Amino acid sequence: MKVIDAVAGLRAVHQETGRPLGLVPTMGCLHEGHLALVRRARSDNATVAVSIFVNPAQFGLPYDDFSTYPRDMESDLSKLREEGVDLVFAPSVEEIYPGGFETSIDVGPIADKLEGKSRPGHFTGVATVVCKLLFIVRPDRAYFGQKDAQQCLVVQRLTADLDLGAEIVVVPTVREADGLALSSRNSLLDTEDKRAALVLYRSLCLARELWRQGEGDAEQIRRQMRSLIESEPLARIDYLSIAHSKSLEELEIIDRPALVSLAVWIGQARLIDNILL
Ligand code: PAF
Repeated sequence: MKVIDAVAGLRAVHQETGRPLGLVPTMGCLHEGHLALVRRARSDNATVAVSIFVNPAQFGLPYDDFSTYPRDMESDLSKLREEGVDLVFAPSVEEIYPGGFETSIDVGPIADKLEGKSRPGHFTGVATVVCKLLFIVRPDRAYFGQKDAQQCLVVQRLTADLDLGAEIVVVPTVREADGLALSSRNSLLDTEDKRAALVLYRSLCLARELWRQGEGDAEQIRRQMRSLIESEPLARIDYLSIAHSKSLEELEIIDRPALVSLAVWIGQARLIDNILL
């Protein structure tokens, strides 16, 4: 496994890289959710590259603190070696954003809703770094988790609009046996928080159940989800949405493919999760 920290170093190995090349962009501190992306990339491609870069441009207090974001390069590299990864790109902040760096990418309305509304500037930071990573690594495919559903839509918009040429592959959310979606932020949960955090997935399952029983009124479903979450004293809702799965426009009637998504504070952690109807 080659570990490269410079853009020039990566360009130097482009010629000898077997194709197709799959890239898994990450911010490190890898868990089974990331490894599911790596495994999918491994089964689809001749060469697998993983980037590890904690991107300061997508952080903003109070949700995320760049300086305290967990980092564990040694453990990440050993996990990636075990998965048979070929190439790790782990640049410094100065390598990606050298002095004088000014450009930023605004992907338009898809980035302004839900997470974008709660975390202004977040998706500009994501789109800018993903664009740079795709230019630098030049993958045939790039892998993202369905747990960050809006990020997947933003990246799909970005790659289509700028003809970046990589296929964006979305991999299903990995959950604990009890339903909790895997996330680096779960490390902020104590035992009691973890129990309380199950209310996110339970509310998504409730939405699916109501819809399966024939409920098509989105507001009725939102109301029942809200009251379930509010019955958990440790939970505080940031947003709860039933929206068209492509445009993220809120739905009144569920007559098109829908994304049910939510962000909920449990103690110090702001957790997100979603399902597709
Ligand atoms: O999902 C993440 O870890 C990040 O948003 C990404 C895609 C690596 C960009 O920094």
